[in-house]
Amino acid sequence: MANEAAKVNIYIMGKKYSVPDSLTILNAMEYAGYQLKRGCGCRAGFCGACATVYRTAGDTELKVALACQTIVEPEMYLTQIPFFPAQKAEYDVAQLEPKAAQIAQYYPEIFRCLGCNSCTKVCPQDLNVMQYIAYAQRGEIDKAASESFDCVMCGLCVSRCPAHIVHYNVGILARRIYGKHIAPPSEHLRQRVEEIENGKFDAELEELMRADLAELKEMYNSREIEK
Ligand code: FES
Repeated sequence: MANEAAKVNIYIMGKKYSVPDSLTILNAMEYAGYQLKRGCGCRAGFCGACATVYRTAGDTELKVALACQTIVEPEMYLTQIPFFPAQKAEYDVAQLEPKAAQIAQYYPEIFRCLGCNSCTKVCPQDLNVMQYIAYAQRGEIDKAASESFDCVMCGLCVSRCPAHIVHYNVGILARRIYGKHIAPPSEHLRQRVEEIENGKFDAELEELMRADLAELKEMYNSREIEK
């Protein structure tokens, strides 16, 4: 038959399926009949909900990927880990202080790092995870925040850490402290929030709420675009 897509065999949670070879793991799972209520979010590599572990035939290495960003391979044995159990500290961001010891107070396990670099090797975002843990150990909050900035919190680093560090929670704590207490306040943002609170955009918002789909499309297509 002309143009029929080439198929590959993959194994989802141990069961064999024949799927088109051009599909992402996420789409292949749906093609195989899975309805994803967990393990799927943005479908664009940003939310970290689709962490997947897999092996391919004849290869002993356990590989990892984001399911929405990775094309299936022949004889791929895969399963998703949409959530990996991890300890999460509770804190009030407003009460945190930009002090060197602040992160270690909530996550003292960062000092158990063995330097194995498994977290960095497993990161599907290619972040230098072990480096931002090192910055956190040294109390360099700004560097830990910057180095972890692209973390999508998929949890794969945690799944590999022999010291049981929860890297992504350490990273988000650094970014919260940085955002709340270290980064200079944004004057533009302050002004815009004030304008919103004073009702500057209320009429426009009401117009949007009243519009039907066709009107919304028209507004979108004829919107003013900054040069
Ligand atoms: S679905 Fe959001 S990163 Fe894959």
